[in-house]
Amino acid sequence: MKITRMAGPLGAIADELDLASDTSEATLRTLIAALHEHQILAIRGQALPYARYVEFGRQWGKPLEFMTKSATRDDFPEMIRISNAAATPERYREGARHWHSDSSYEPTPASVTMLYCAEAPEVGGETLIASSALAYEALDAETKAQIDDMVGLHCLGGSPGLPGEKIPFVPEETARMGIVKHPLVYRHPVTGRKALFVSGTAYGAEGMDRDEGRALIDRLRRHIVQPAFTTSYKAEAGDIFLWDNFQVLHSSTPIEYSDEPGKRRLLYRIRTKGVPALCAEPAPAA
Ligand SMILES: [Fe+2]
Repeated sequence: MKITRMAGPLGAIADELDLASDTSEATLRTLIAALHEHQILAIRGQALPYARYVEFGRQWGKPLEFMTKSATRDDFPEMIRISNAAATPERYREGARHWHSDSSYEPTPASVTMLYCAEAPEVGGETLIASSALAYEALDAETKAQIDDMVGLHCLGGSPGLPGEKIPFVPEETARMGIVKHPLVYRHPVTGRKALFVSGTAYGAEGMDRDEGRALIDRLRRHIVQPAFTTSYKAEAGDIFLWDNFQVLHSSTPIEYSDEPGKRRLLYRIRTKGVPALCAEPAPAA
């Protein structure tokens, strides 16, 4: 296996491995360490049966179930099919075109998200990534001291939004999920590295009045998406593209909805909660 850094401020690429046949613990440990260090990881050139992909997904944590069952497969409910089919209803289009970490509207947010790409369009389909860890580290000491122990408030559709963002808002879902609280500065559960946690669901902070909290969230979100902390990756067919929701925000880019060859995009997504089982155990002696 070869791990190389992506161009830009974060990210790594894993080549020269075949996850269909390589099920070793050593390989998995290397991939987990690469994701934790580099925040996003593209494992290229894979041809996995669904069962093996789901098994691989489970090794990163406990798979989440999605709120709409229609997108799942009966045989692999933890794997969500994502496409740009022309029949996609308007309300489900571009639901990820805003800076967010996954499931931040839930009490336990997603830890890792992975996309296994079956088809990629010739043009478009990039995922934008912003490092909330690098962004935290670049804050001045006074701001760090101010926010380090603050609690952020989240609800679906609650974020003030940045220019160009499409913050999804479905009133009945917002009412159902309610308000959840997360630390404004998240300590990574494995590495302890600090990162801002201001997903596209963040709208305020405990102990601040509404306008003050909103202004703080807006300021931190604008800070994160500066070019110095951002990159993009386009998943090509055969890629498994992973990101660490504790260290990055992500956003989709506009895509054409089409069934034409060369324009189709087909991804299988798995999201997990918690830490990899391997990280809950001491590493074997070298
Ligand atoms: Fe997402």
